[in-house]
Amino acid sequence: MSNAFTLNRILGWAFGQNQFFERIFGPMSDIDIISKYREQFVTHLQARTQITDPRNLYEPVQYILGLGGKRLRPILALMTAEAFGGKAEKAMDAALAIEMFHNFSLVHDDIMDDAPLRRGKTTVHEKWDINTGILSGDAMLILSYQFFEGYPVKTYFELTKLFSKTALEVCEGQQYDVDFETRDDVTIPEYLKMIEYKTSVLVAAAMKMGAIVADADPKDADAIYEFGRNLGIAFQLQDDFLDAFGNPETFGKQIGGDIIENKKTYLYLKALQGATKDDKEGLLHLYSIKPEDSSTKVEAVKTIFEESGAVEETRKAIKKYTQMAFRALDETKLPEQSKALLQQFGESLMERTV
Ligand code: IPE
Ligand code: IPE
Ligand code: MG
Ligand code: MG
Ligand code: MG
Repeated sequence: MSNAFTLNRILGWAFGQNQFFERIFGPMSDIDIISKYREQFVTHLQARTQITDPRNLYEPVQYILGLGGKRLRPILALMTAEAFGGKAEKAMDAALAIEMFHNFSLVHDDIMDDAPLRRGKTTVHEKWDINTGILSGDAMLILSYQFFEGYPVKTYFELTKLFSKTALEVCEGQQYDVDFETRDDVTIPEYLKMIEYKTSVLVAAAMKMGAIVADADPKDADAIYEFGRNLGIAFQLQDDFLDAFGNPETFGKQIGGDIIENKKTYLYLKALQGATKDDKEGLLHLYSIKPEDSSTKVEAVKTIFEESGAVEETRKAIKKYTQMAFRALDETKLPEQSKALLQQFGESLMERTV
């Protein structure tokens, strides 16, 4: 065995040990720990996904995965595995399956939402075409299942069972989202169910998968799912807010896209409740049309969102669901240090701008 190889083995092991770092460099900050998970994950992703023929199928896969993104779901899967005493390494393929599925859902979502921009770059169906987006997306969905194949049979069964249930719920959420575009009687409970399905169950499943590979107590696995579910709802509420009020330089998506598409977001539903009679009528009218030049509509709707108190209500709801997530976290038997790290991560999501 060469010296270089031995050194790599030792360093490889050491980089997996927080205590090693802490003894040499002092305690790692939460941001360092999260960056470490992100880097480990991206290294794994690059090693496990390579372009092969036909290029028109796999290049878009590489393109969307290479655009980055926050890697929120895989980071949560790895963090959860380690919090429950498992190794991040063991959760890596489950994290990859989740991230692959998430990126598949974005490629198809951008077709459905007619979105021009994703992570600051042209969307797959605009850069190539709709057929390419459909088929590369399909391939990504299948690839995501393949990443579970390396797990022992019992774990494989548990992971794929949870995955299939979650993936179907995401489809249901997406269908509600589209159905709501042409309805004017959507209620807040209907909206909450829609975002729970289209977004939050995947965040929840990512965390539960971390718990499964770490052989956590099933009660803890369910409590961490609850944490992820509530955090995911807060996350989607924040996404709705940023879609209208985010900074176009940093958000990476077309600002006002939801307004253009007449999406029944929390902002919209709360604005209908809080607006003056005239504004309510104006809003209903604006959400019944799709003008060629959307800028006047977007500005008018944003003004109503602000003046009706809908922005304030959305901020309150984000806080409420984040607090509910923290209560679920408290139900687990996780060590205080792990709870603090997950809580810190949840809080940072509330302040996110991307
Ligand atoms: C976007 O998810 C889709 C939603 C569920 C809101 P993210 O905001 O996690 O997207 P990336 O992966 O960081 O780009
Ligand atoms: C996305 O919801 C949910 C899924 C992709 C399943 P959005 O349509 O709000 O996501 P963005 O804003 O395009 O990222
Ligand atoms: Mg979208
Ligand atoms: Mg959508
Ligand atoms: Mg959105």
